Amino acid sequence: MKKIIFLLVITILLASCKKEHKSTIINKEKSNKNYAKIGKEYTLATKTILGKNLKQAIAKEGLVGAMSFCNEQAYSLTDSMQVKYNAIIKRVSDKNRNQNNKANAIELSYINTFKEKLKNGEKIKPIIEKSDGKIHFYSPIKTNQLCLQCHGKQLQPNLIAKLKDLYPNDLAVGYDDNQVRGIWSITFDE
Ligand code: HEC
Repeated sequence: MKKIIFLLVITILLASCKKEHKSTIINKEKSNKNYAKIGKEYTLATKTILGKNLKQAIAKEGLVGAMSFCNEQAYSLTDSMQVKYNAIIKRVSDKNRNQNNKANAIELSYINTFKEKLKNGEKIKPIIEKSDGKIHFYSPIKTNQLCLQCHGKQLQPNLIAKLKDLYPNDLAVGYDDNQVRGIWSITFDE
């Protein structure tokens, strides 16, 4: 009898152990999904505010005026979203226009990962990492026809002059449609 009770206790203990283990895995999966959702929300909100203001500036002041607008406002608009979400929100590139938007080594490797996936026609998902209690979220920024007016192969001569003036070391030209222009690099608390 004693033996049976002993076995029973062991079985119950083992069963509960297993259960607990399973639930931590599920929780982990769940929270990973939430991090992707949070990252996407921040990028979409920042993209929307930048895009809306960019289109307004082009309509009001033309491309050259909009170039100055980006030069003066892109940072403060992005910064307003950083404050709103209490996160670090960066747009970085391997071919950066603004010196402050130069990708670091990790970001460069992910830019290459995204380029490779786009080339192979694979589905691109954001990359999410955890370190020191922080979440790092990376997702690609792709070009469309609108972008090519200022980042494409053939720019208006007066725009080229403005670019030389504002960004003498500009690398962000020569793009085609649907290419990886850079990435969102976002950091927020776990
Ligand atoms: C009116 C011209 C103009 C258009 C159109 C434009 N950009 Fe830019 N872009 C700029 C300027 C100017 C900067 C540098 C902003 C700064 O100094 O903070 C910039 C910076 C960027 C950056 C940050 C990295 C870097 O190179 O400094 C990314 C990413 C970017 N643009 C992507 C895009 C995408 C994607 C589109 C299309 C949806 C687009 N841009 C359309 C002028 C433009």
